[in-house]
Amino acid sequence: MKQIPQITKAVIPAAGLGTRFLPATKAQPKEMLPVVDKPAIQYVVEESVDAGLRDILVITGRGKRSIEDHFDRSFELEHYLEIKGRQDELIKVQKIAEMANLHYLRQGSPKGLGDAVSVAKDHTGDDSFAVLLADDLMDPDVGVLRSMLAKHRETGFSVIALKEVLPEEISLYGSVAISRCDFSELVKITSIVEKPSVDEAPSNFAVMGRYVFTPTIYEALKDVAPGKGGELQLTDGISKMLDVEPVYGYCFTNGRYDIGNKLDYLRATLEIALDSADIGTQFAKVLTDLAKKRGLI
Ligand code: G1P
Repeated sequence: MKQIPQITKAVIPAAGLGTRFLPATKAQPKEMLPVVDKPAIQYVVEESVDAGLRDILVITGRGKRSIEDHFDRSFELEHYLEIKGRQDELIKVQKIAEMANLHYLRQGSPKGLGDAVSVAKDHTGDDSFAVLLADDLMDPDVGVLRSMLAKHRETGFSVIALKEVLPEEISLYGSVAISRCDFSELVKITSIVEKPSVDEAPSNFAVMGRYVFTPTIYEALKDVAPGKGGELQLTDGISKMLDVEPVYGYCFTNGRYDIGNKLDYLRATLEIALDSADIGTQFAKVLTDLAKKRGLI
């Protein structure tokens, strides 16, 4: 049987303008918005590292320099924490810079997610690789990416994270038609369309911001014309890839937050705060008191 090489590289597109969070994102990248005490993108980098992918390419653009600073060493801060004897904070800060090998490429002009992924071609070359969208936060205990990488090693083909959503939500996502396949826990994707209306959607299975791609995606993206919203859509590249080789879907049910959406951003913040060893118990009390005060409980 053909040996499928282990994937080592991840790509995080982070060139989007973050208009849904204005004015908070006027002068700072949306990927740097804090979720409790870490910027959103740090959760995504940690997820990649936990799944064994330490070589991470971030696709950036104008106004995104603070992402690079965040994952870099900060000798002044480290020196300050050292002389003050604040060891716990020092270790935390040093870990951020050491956990992964981060690389950065700029997208030029943000022409869409498909274009952002194309920028990674020279970095990933002939290797398969993972793409993690920074708006999607995944519960680390669920291990979606890790399972997808295992499925790639089993099949040798691309694997895309899917989740069933309510019919009225499908127009926010890429939507797929699926059929059964011979691999356990996987479905075969037979067609895919970006953000369809409820009537046009092939199913309620939505694409969830985690992808494992073979390099065939780059060839497929070359032929993509501007699609939904006038952007070069990754979904349209995947659709073209279906003509060339199989693409599988990995379905999961829980543990995903869309932090590009205000309500889900707050839900992520609340859940992560409640789970925190540091403030979880006190925060649960704060929430209970607030709910009582408003007559909610
Ligand atoms: C992107 C993709 C979409 C996918 C979604 C997942 O859309 O284009 O296919 O379902 O991410 O979060 P965006 O939310 O960036 O508009």
